[in-house]
Amino acid sequence: MNIAFFSTLPFEQTWFDQYRSHHRLTYIDQPLTLDTARLAMGHRAVCAFVNDDLSRPVIETLNGLGVSVVGMRCVGIDNVDLITLNNLGMTLLHVPGYSPHSVAEQAVALLLGLIRHVPDAHQRVLRGDFRIDGLTGTDLHGKTVGVMGTGHIGQAFARIMQGFGCKLLAYDIQPDRSLLDRGVHYMALPELLRVADVVSLHCPLTPLTENLINDQTLSLMKPSAWLVNTGRGKLVKTRAVLDALDNNRLAGYAADVYEQERAFFHYDFSDQFIDDPLLNRLRSHPKVLLSAHQGFLTEEALRQIARSLMNQFNFYENQQTSLLSKASMC
Ligand code: NAI
Repeated sequence: MNIAFFSTLPFEQTWFDQYRSHHRLTYIDQPLTLDTARLAMGHRAVCAFVNDDLSRPVIETLNGLGVSVVGMRCVGIDNVDLITLNNLGMTLLHVPGYSPHSVAEQAVALLLGLIRHVPDAHQRVLRGDFRIDGLTGTDLHGKTVGVMGTGHIGQAFARIMQGFGCKLLAYDIQPDRSLLDRGVHYMALPELLRVADVVSLHCPLTPLTENLINDQTLSLMKPSAWLVNTGRGKLVKTRAVLDALDNNRLAGYAADVYEQERAFFHYDFSDQFIDDPLLNRLRSHPKVLLSAHQGFLTEEALRQIARSLMNQFNFYENQQTSLLSKASMC
């Protein structure tokens, strides 16, 4: 099967080549948009990524070009118009549950980096400045950590935090039995926000969770609390978080995602003006630690994503072939 990969990052090719089997893969470094969709011409399948545009007009264009299956090499599929895909009889493949540790550990890395001033400490050492004043941190041990969304990643994060000696609270529309057995206490969101020292977001972006962290919910949090977001940028109203940080109503924000990241993340803007005042405010804020959506970026996760998705493309192709041969026998 011919598969067009959009938004291909150079390091991904090695993994997909390893599991490509007989498929012919076309690596396209441009994102999937209405303008670039035509590059899928001659391909039966498209493989897209977290910031690609899979809105109705794009899916209709792909369908018109003969694309019948879309494989998402990410967990979150909030950028896919599932209704259009379904109405056009197209198939969606994706990779739920690949190494949840990769994202959970990124959340921990950002949290520790933020509360122990690691980037600042490293910059000082690079400059030959070995003073440590202004770098006083906080222990995680004994703190109360609130996890929003206790699926694959939230659970992995909760277990790590228990290892640090934290008390774990959780909020999820579907509480997990194994976490209850481990002493994690589920509660309503407002209650969790009032008592948690750390709040970490691990739920998907849906109409119900969009802007869940806003002026009102932030006002419930302790001024000494830290917020961690490795879920999706739009779970949080960034302007509200920055205002809370400026007014000492929140201690810090560690994030791997940003609500308008699509135009910037995974590209090099180091010699260009970044025309996004909110992003500029976020990336230069002294109480913010930001990475550019790299929670999935471990060897283990990349291997699992490539293997799982290519297996699914194989399965899809075999299924279509057997359907066709059954039809020809009738
Ligand atoms: P999952 O599907 O295993 O878990 C999601 C959990 O959120 C479920 O327990 C679900 O019941 C809960 N949930 C759904 N709606 C909710 C609501 N309205 N309120 C509270 N809880 C709700 O997903 P997984 O694998 O844990 O991934 C979580 C999210 O992490 C993804 O949807 C994606 O947005 C993000 N992600 C980020 C990555 C990164 O590189 N930064 C990589 C992979 C995922």
